[in-house]
Amino acid sequence: MANKVWINNSIEDLNKAAAAYIADILSKAVRLRGAANLALSGGSTPMGLYQTLSQDYYRELIPWNKIHFFWGDERCVPPDHPESNYKQALDHLLGHIPAILENIHRIKGELSPDEAVSDYIQVLSGFAQGKYPWPVFDVALMGMGEDGHTASLFPGTVEPLETVTLVIQVNTAYQDRPSRRITLTAAVFNSSRNVIFLVTGEKKAKTLEIALSDRRDPVNIPVQRIKPTHGNTIWYVDSEAAKFLKER
Ligand code: 6PG
Repeated sequence: MANKVWINNSIEDLNKAAAAYIADILSKAVRLRGAANLALSGGSTPMGLYQTLSQDYYRELIPWNKIHFFWGDERCVPPDHPESNYKQALDHLLGHIPAILENIHRIKGELSPDEAVSDYIQVLSGFAQGKYPWPVFDVALMGMGEDGHTASLFPGTVEPLETVTLVIQVNTAYQDRPSRRITLTAAVFNSSRNVIFLVTGEKKAKTLEIALSDRRDPVNIPVQRIKPTHGNTIWYVDSEAAKFLKER
């Protein structure tokens, strides 16, 4: 399956390119299967993309009422907290498009971490698809931290391997963000049809170069754990983040 890196001159170009690709995938998925599953990410990078997707053109083009929204991770805060990934998506995307309320499946950051994990496992199980006891995402939108984390899969953490776990809680400090978090595991992301990474800024350049190199270190560079078994991985990066990438 495709593993592509698109380097964009500006963040605006990156958002436009990613929005066009996502619109195409979601529209085709709805035509084919009647509905589509989209996993959203947190962090500051997707905000511009969310805004692009909520503009008139995409508001009309994408069959939003047929899309189920999930989250790759959430911080353990209430849904109206400024650090809530759900709130960010609501403010910049969901509040501006004709999404159906029942199709918005957020991680309940206001519950205790144990309860939030069991609640989301139950939510995901309701969308079991084929051999997977969870939804297959048509698009899983993901970011990457300066330390190589993605969703809330942080360096040095090891996911349980003996059983397939869908959702886990973590407690890891990164910048000044809430450290208690709930995250889907790599197994869930890796059944996606398309994983889309958005990575911008010079501060991520070195890590991006390592992440995309042949050096495998998935424990310390968690973003390397994301390798969809049958899906595409598309990286949208800006020229600053791409500065150490060699011509491919
Ligand atoms: C979160 C995330 C996380 C994020 C990266 C990048 O909840 O914080 O989902 O994995 O994508 O930390 O964040 P920035 O886009 O802000 O650099």
